[in-house]
Amino acid sequence: MAMSPLLIANWKMYKTVEESASFARLLGPRLEGWWKPQAVRLVIAPTSLALFAMARHLGDGPVALAAQNLELGREGAFTGALSGYLLHEAGARLVIIGHSERRRYFAETDGLVAEKVDAAWNAGLTPVVCVGETEAERDSGQTEAVLKRQLSAILTKPRDDDKPLVIAYEPVWAIGTGRVAKTEDVGQIAHTVRQWLSTSQGPKDVPLLYGGSVNPDNLGGFLRLPDVNGALVGGASLTLEGVVAMVRVAQEQI
Ligand code: 13P
Repeated sequence: MAMSPLLIANWKMYKTVEESASFARLLGPRLEGWWKPQAVRLVIAPTSLALFAMARHLGDGPVALAAQNLELGREGAFTGALSGYLLHEAGARLVIIGHSERRRYFAETDGLVAEKVDAAWNAGLTPVVCVGETEAERDSGQTEAVLKRQLSAILTKPRDDDKPLVIAYEPVWAIGTGRVAKTEDVGQIAHTVRQWLSTSQGPKDVPLLYGGSVNPDNLGGFLRLPDVNGALVGGASLTLEGVVAMVRVAQEQI
């Protein structure tokens, strides 16, 4: 499916507000004159604290912002929580949901992930739903079953054009480890997920991303896979050089 590559930088709990704002300020000049934003879409997911400051620098330009999580609801007595509405107002247009770090350290379940997807849509945000198997699950041949379980609550939801969706396949064992998944394995898994999508309700043009130790050197191999439409990148997206190099690699693929 011909979709322009989508690169999402997940900064996790890195970078201060000041560092994030300065990155946003410096990014434009580094991309100016050669980046074709219609051809390669670029999204940065800073800490929620930095969204507003980055949005002021990025303005209406082509670099979009994502939040890394949201809490359910719109407003209310939920100490410490940030709703999709607040994140949207701060500048986010997408939100990462169900990252394995949230599933693991914050006990997020498939049911909660599905509720958060609804909350994202209600707030006008595009959910980027993360799925992926642990090493033990992979070694015991459960990868497909795990992905099916993680995705089933989302893919059975009624979905029309105003409910955009992005799916990121991030094998847990490849995150932050430098142990990148084999491109042929990712290609096969992406193909299977694409088949599930074809029988699900709603628009089929769902970008499928790979995540897990992606860097400028291995990105091209994933983007060449017919069912992979981009990457969700952690560590390698923390430097300006890394982001610029990955946009360049993605643009060279098309
Ligand atoms: P790394 O690219 O650092 O492996 O992180 C991947 C990730 O978790 C992106 O969401």
